[in-house]
Amino acid sequence: MELRTLIVGNWKSNPRTEKEAVALYSELSKEVPKHKSIETIYAVPFVFLPILKKKFPKTLFVAQDVSAFDGGAHTGEIAATQLASAGAVSVIIGHSETRASGVTNTDTREKIQRAIKAGLSPILCVGETVRDEGHEYLRFVANQITEALLGMPKAKLASLTIAYEPVWAIGKDAARVATPEESLEMSIFIRRTLADMFDKKSAESVRIIYGGSVDEKNGISFLKHGGVSGLLPGRLSLSPKKFAALIRSIIGTL
Ligand code: PGA
Repeated sequence: MELRTLIVGNWKSNPRTEKEAVALYSELSKEVPKHKSIETIYAVPFVFLPILKKKFPKTLFVAQDVSAFDGGAHTGEIAATQLASAGAVSVIIGHSETRASGVTNTDTREKIQRAIKAGLSPILCVGETVRDEGHEYLRFVANQITEALLGMPKAKLASLTIAYEPVWAIGKDAARVATPEESLEMSIFIRRTLADMFDKKSAESVRIIYGGSVDEKNGISFLKHGGVSGLLPGRLSLSPKKFAALIRSIIGTL
């Protein structure tokens, strides 16, 4: 079975109120065309999960982080089982913005294991902060993957998505936009790292997507030439018309 193209709109810490969240999703659902070959899901702030799930039961919503603990005395943490019961089907783990506040590779491993146990599909974000000429960044990304997936049963890999998000290409202050060639190089490298760690067949079962300043124009070139089967747009997912234009551009090539 061919994989559907996965588009994960990452709202980050937006919008400001529940009312605005419902209005934003209503607008997105009006604008964004549906297609059987495209799976469009939205990573929203924790607190908006229940209301969005209730109002839009057919849409798949994703959490943006999960606790490394299984509940208990961990103030402020939200456990995987709690996310699942709030309506999340999947969870972003190790986004660079959460790594910046101290999440380590070991934490990402715990988080992935908790997510899988609770029935959530993990979306593991990896990516270097800078590209050095000595290619140290490849080792950096390989470490992020091998430390996060240590001890992972091969059979669970099919539920995993790896998002390659070069940190230098994320957000409005991005140094520049990555090229599809850079995404292709990294997707091959990620696949090889997985094959070395598990085996070729298991490595093929992991979905790889790209994120970092994806817009309505460049998105399609990452899908066509970047070696990925999905995208993780941040800012774009807050602009229903532009986000819809990206989805239409993908449908146009199917
Ligand atoms: P951006 O964010 O599309 O706004 O660069 C992507 C991300 O951080 O997931």
